[in-house]
Amino acid sequence: MLGRVKSLDAILATAERKSLTRSLGAFQLTMLGVGAVIGTGIFVLTAEAAQKAGPGMILSFIIAGAVCAVAALCYAEMSAMVPVSGSAYTYSYAVMGELLAWMVGWALVLEYAVAAGAVAVGWSGYFVGLLREYAGVSLPPELVNADALIAQVKLAFGAADTDAIQTAIATGGYMNLPAFLIALLVTWLLVIGTRESAAVNAVLVAIKVTALTLFVILALPVMQSSNFEPFAPLGIGGISAAAASIFFAYVGFDAVSTAAEETKNPQRNMPIGLIGSLAICTIFYILVASGVIGSVGAQPLFDASGNGIAPGSTDFAAACAAQGSQVVVCSKEALAWTLREIGWRQIGNLVGLAAGLALPSVILMMMFGQTRIFFVMSRDGLLPEFLSKVHPKYHTPHVVTIITGVVVAVFAALFPVGILADISNSGTLFAFAMVALAVMILRRTDPARHRPFRTPAVALVAPLAILGCVYLFFSLSAYTLELFAGWAVLGLIVYFAYSRKHSHVGRGVVEVHEDDAETPPQPVPPMPGAPTPGGTQA
Ligand code: ALA
Repeated sequence: MLGRVKSLDAILATAERKSLTRSLGAFQLTMLGVGAVIGTGIFVLTAEAAQKAGPGMILSFIIAGAVCAVAALCYAEMSAMVPVSGSAYTYSYAVMGELLAWMVGWALVLEYAVAAGAVAVGWSGYFVGLLREYAGVSLPPELVNADALIAQVKLAFGAADTDAIQTAIATGGYMNLPAFLIALLVTWLLVIGTRESAAVNAVLVAIKVTALTLFVILALPVMQSSNFEPFAPLGIGGISAAAASIFFAYVGFDAVSTAAEETKNPQRNMPIGLIGSLAICTIFYILVASGVIGSVGAQPLFDASGNGIAPGSTDFAAACAAQGSQVVVCSKEALAWTLREIGWRQIGNLVGLAAGLALPSVILMMMFGQTRIFFVMSRDGLLPEFLSKVHPKYHTPHVVTIITGVVVAVFAALFPVGILADISNSGTLFAFAMVALAVMILRRTDPARHRPFRTPAVALVAPLAILGCVYLFFSLSAYTLELFAGWAVLGLIVYFAYSRKHSHVGRGVVEVHEDDAETPPQPVPPMPGAPTPGGTQA
């Protein structure tokens, strides 16, 4: 019924030929996780979460963190057992067959490429603030977002000509130039083979953690309990919606699970690394969110009929313009804005600088993940082979990297950060649920297989992970779910029109690669942030 399945043994034979030294301990894994996780979510999307949930966003952070924790434990079993590239896509191919694997790979495009776009837009918000604060340069509004362009497209497609549309046309822009450029810069770094070294990761983790700590130290003492009232102005629905969006802040921990084969004693160190990095992030996120709420307040903006306005929408831009953007929910650099607001202008700028320095590495990891997935799918024949071409000099999959990078840059230029993050979350939640399902299936169908790491209490943890993902998925906006459905339909069309015919498994070509291409052949593929040799170290 499941159709074509790629043999787990063939996949593993690939992995066994590759011998990466087991060098990572619990501490390095935790740092790897924190480095990959902290990014646009906390630095930027805190404002969106506040607009969706008000002070109740504290609960949203806890819910999203808990779902990630159970999903992470499932992810770890799979990645330790099938330590090859392609993550959720590869696991699904072995366990649930080609069609579902294709759908997972297709969804991972949302997880990685769209997330890279979201982080680029998040970075842009801070970059614009830094230019203003340090250089006294204000970029023209035409070049910091595409609100006016989107409003005009809406009008052209028959939307009502409201005041909000007119405000967007009058005050909005045509593209987010900084986001576009940073995405292209990261693409170029990937093409020439840049990987983030463990040393760079450690420095960036230190910068991010210092920035968040400073924020907490300065914001918490000026908290006022009155700012927590009303706690949930948009009810449980608002808290769920914010949890579904802020889930983005935790994405990236799979960087830890994909380092399974480089880990000493994975059964002990994997869960410490995964749960440790998630716990550290959750604590920081709750403290930071409390700081924002308590110091400057986090009440949402409402429309005339008393409904919360969707962040990123034309109506929201108009409501913010009417407020003079003097509320945190309108800020594109929420943490820096909050510190400036409570009288710490220079420290606010430094926190902005920390975000400006650290976020590009998150973009790099996301885009790297995307190129790796495309590469494996193309190697399996599901995507055209020219995509897996390797650059003769740089030994990188330059074709797929450039295509991915240009698409990411265009998305980053046109769409608001929250919408991109939500779309990315839809794909990630789908993939996570599939991985948890695969873990359960494989425990039944192949109980004897060696598992370097076993999900603890799997009968409880895996179903909880699936339920958690389903709950967050359906808490995303209707608009996001429609886009996800559209993307899935497009994926099915591509599969039946192209991939099914060209699939190597379908054509009976089951190849075992001499060197597993986590990235393409030589140099040895390093994990971002992991201390493996090879590649140009950034
Ligand atoms: N968790 C990452 C971020 O928030 C994707 O930027």
